[in-house]
Amino acid sequence: MSTYVSLCEFIRSHFLGRDRIGLHEPQFYGNERAYVIDAIDSTFVSSVGNYVTRFEEMLCQITGAKYAVATVNGTTALHAALLVAGVQPGDMVLTQPLSFVATANAVAHAGAEPVFLDVEEDTLGLDPGAVAEFLLTACKKADGGCRHVATGRRVAACVPMHTFGHPCRVDALTDVCAGFGVPVVEDAAEALGSLRQGRHCGTFGLLGTLSFNGNKIVTSGGGGAVLTDDPELARRAKHLTTTAKLPLPYRFVHDSVGYNYRMPNLNAALACAQLEQLESFLASKRALAGEYATFCAKVGLRFVSEPADTQSNYWLNAIRLPDIATREAFLETSNDCGIQTRRAWDLLSSLPMFAHNPRGPLEVATKLAAELVNIPSSPRIQDAVHIARRTPENGQRSRPLAGDASSRS
Ligand SMILES: Cc1ncc(COP(=O)(O)O)c(C=O)c1O
Repeated sequence: MSTYVSLCEFIRSHFLGRDRIGLHEPQFYGNERAYVIDAIDSTFVSSVGNYVTRFEEMLCQITGAKYAVATVNGTTALHAALLVAGVQPGDMVLTQPLSFVATANAVAHAGAEPVFLDVEEDTLGLDPGAVAEFLLTACKKADGGCRHVATGRRVAACVPMHTFGHPCRVDALTDVCAGFGVPVVEDAAEALGSLRQGRHCGTFGLLGTLSFNGNKIVTSGGGGAVLTDDPELARRAKHLTTTAKLPLPYRFVHDSVGYNYRMPNLNAALACAQLEQLESFLASKRALAGEYATFCAKVGLRFVSEPADTQSNYWLNAIRLPDIATREAFLETSNDCGIQTRRAWDLLSSLPMFAHNPRGPLEVATKLAAELVNIPSSPRIQDAVHIARRTPENGQRSRPLAGDASSRS
């Protein structure tokens, strides 16, 4: 246990001056206050406002996606993305069991059934080999798409997730799925700032989604976004998430059952200020991950490093413990001394509402769920303050989006 006590001491030394060290705490040392007050002063606090547009533009710049559609959270972004990808009630959707519940919930919200396939040990994400095996042995190409032979049901999408911000082998997944006409919708909720072969997570599939929940690398309080390069899909995602209202003056005409999934301008104001600091958050988190890796190598702990060919945002750092007894002892020791640590999620395939869903062999996911423990991963306050002080070039904090936020759209 002394190794684990020394890990706790190591964590304490990195988050000095804190009684309780959270797993991932947001930092607000940039223009957050200025932009939120600016949104309030503009009176545009709700679903219309220029910070929403600015947020979407910034996301396109950061990710390289042609279009970004802001939503009220990551779950609604994924639901909307699945709908515009063509997922319909009764369809099957291939996904991984090692994920936050929202991944499978969004599939269920679309009326479809998640099919759980195994993950890879090095990426923690959906295994292209497991997907290929399922498609080749249990499915056949039909009507330009793919059908599950035993049930005749459509396999309408594949939803890989970039676990803890580590990019999965999404390029291989899109290749495998393309062969069967199955669109890939990436759940990149945890992966803002993560790259695979230099390309941003969430931009490999037909669509990708992000979360800006308070525990993510960048937060809007609550928020999400759909990414895509397809103009028609972007238009439909925007339409569907904004109550399917037609742009007619003086009239409320809605042409389908839409959703009120709009991100409020207040939240977008917060998000814009946070996105301005993404680079500094990434630098701070990657530096911390490097230090964890060095420390773990020295004391013989298994640290989860970014997969080959990727640049991870290291949203949540993780170690792997040899067995459940050691894991529980470490969780108790660390949490008792004010250091928040936690197990990975219980596998989605084991939750009561998904316990009877179709699945493949889940050996790797089962092993990882037993071994993984997340450890504190916040960007350090001193790094964030340092960076906030040197924006923009003149050394002043950058100004609110004057004009932007005051003009009504
Ligand atoms: C993998 C994954 N998918 C989806 C979500 C849903 O995002 P939100 O909480 O913004 O709805 C989250 C995180 O919260 C997540 O970690």
